Amino acid sequence: MANDTNKFQAIISHCKEYGFIFPSSEIYDGLQAVYDYGQMGSELKKNIKDYWWKSMTQLQDNIVGIDAAIFMHPTTWKASGHVDNFNDPMIDNKDSKKRYRVDHLIEAFAEEQKTTGNEQLANDVLAQMDALLAKDDFAGLKKLIEDNKMKCAISGTGNWTDIRQFNLMFSTEFGSMETAEIPPAGGGGANKVYLRPETAQGIFVNFLNVQKTGRMKIPFGIAQIGKAFRNEIVARQFIFRMREFEQMEMQFFIRPGTQKEWYEKWKATRLEWHQSLGIPAEKYRYHDHVKLAHYADAACDIEFEFPIGFKELEGIHSRTDFDLKQHQEYSKKKQQYFDNDIDPATGKPYGNYIPYVIETSIGLDRMFLAVVSHAYEEQDLSTPEKPDSRVVLKFPAKLAPIKLAVLPLTKKDGLPEIAEQIMTDLKPHFRCFYEEKDSIGKRYRRMDALGTPFCVTVDHQTKEDNTVTIRHRDSMEQERVPIGKLKEIVLSAIG
Ligand code: GAP
Repeated sequence: MANDTNKFQAIISHCKEYGFIFPSSEIYDGLQAVYDYGQMGSELKKNIKDYWWKSMTQLQDNIVGIDAAIFMHPTTWKASGHVDNFNDPMIDNKDSKKRYRVDHLIEAFAEEQKTTGNEQLANDVLAQMDALLAKDDFAGLKKLIEDNKMKCAISGTGNWTDIRQFNLMFSTEFGSMETAEIPPAGGGGANKVYLRPETAQGIFVNFLNVQKTGRMKIPFGIAQIGKAFRNEIVARQFIFRMREFEQMEMQFFIRPGTQKEWYEKWKATRLEWHQSLGIPAEKYRYHDHVKLAHYADAACDIEFEFPIGFKELEGIHSRTDFDLKQHQEYSKKKQQYFDNDIDPATGKPYGNYIPYVIETSIGLDRMFLAVVSHAYEEQDLSTPEKPDSRVVLKFPAKLAPIKLAVLPLTKKDGLPEIAEQIMTDLKPHFRCFYEEKDSIGKRYRRMDALGTPFCVTVDHQTKEDNTVTIRHRDSMEQERVPIGKLKEIVLSAIG
């Protein structure tokens, strides 16, 4: 499947209808590329986070987690290169002096074409824009604007400047304008602070704090999950590209010269993590970077086959000692580690050095989209007698928002009381859901649409022998089991 737009649209609608994802501030018509996670989405997101956190910290011998602030001293971003190099293209109208983001201008033009029935032109222009942006082809973008006679909304003219770069970081101001001054460590503008565009820098600036207080010995890692913000230029792909998103990053600090072997190890380890969720191997592929960022000596993406095609899900980067070196230079504070292991080449300790770093960086929202896209299935269940269908989310049980639904067959005869007792006994162990409204068939369908792996039905036989029917989401098979076995069945599935 190269690009399944219908499936993508169906997933977006499903996420909204079943409380996974809503457009942000929807009552005000939403905010572009910003989304809210609903009651089901926040559970799924938390389960993904927990799964990543556990495997990257608890199950490792030498990786610890931190939670750094979103705001950082502005010099951080000067040192990291984001102030100077983290840019997107802008264009100005010479008559009105109004400045436009190039993508906004082209999108507004495409929108106008759609409303006048020119859907084909709109789609062509957007496709050309995406291709030109991907190549940083500013001359091509300007030509696209001019060839299509795009006009400024204020002056009504097409008298444009050349396209120039614009920084993707959001900024705001700290404290009151009169009093608050950020200490001048080289950051420039007094009160200006940025919303972090990656969580990684919060790890780098805490490298020595963690190493010393945690008595960490190289090789070791620092992991973090947190929000990041980017004023993205192409932001029309649901939660694939957002302006506020979450990252799960880990920086692994190593001895210089060992980066090649650690890079290969983390590449393999991270792919194994993805596949441990039971998603087939052919849904993933590596994309090795040919054009490397100035700080990297190797880099690759783990791509996933989304309904919009194979796209980046996670990045693995061999970042050399670039970041720590930069922070050492800008802060004037040594960012060195003393390695007292013996170097076999010299017979002496390795001594002081700035560690090299291998980074693993995955977008939590993209991982969410990958999990939902893979789980989403529309099934035709028609028989010669009766048309039927269902939408099912085949989540791995450990990620499912609800693990067990408890459904009394009727609202009377003491069945709700038994069901409520099952809820009381099991809800301390995993997320359960109680539902007595509607027919049992409708309740099963609703649980399928939420991705609940197990449904338990309490019926009249339960009163006689303390057994219930457990229904398995994927096979739809049902079996009779003692109530006392439910906890074990669910716990072993979510292991
Ligand atoms: N610290 C390295 C770094 O931030 P990146 O490739 O820019 O590298 C890492 O981002 C991951 O963060 C990506 O692989 C992607 O999953 C996620 N990501 C980046 N920009 C995003 C956006 N605008 N919306 C959602 N996820 C994003």
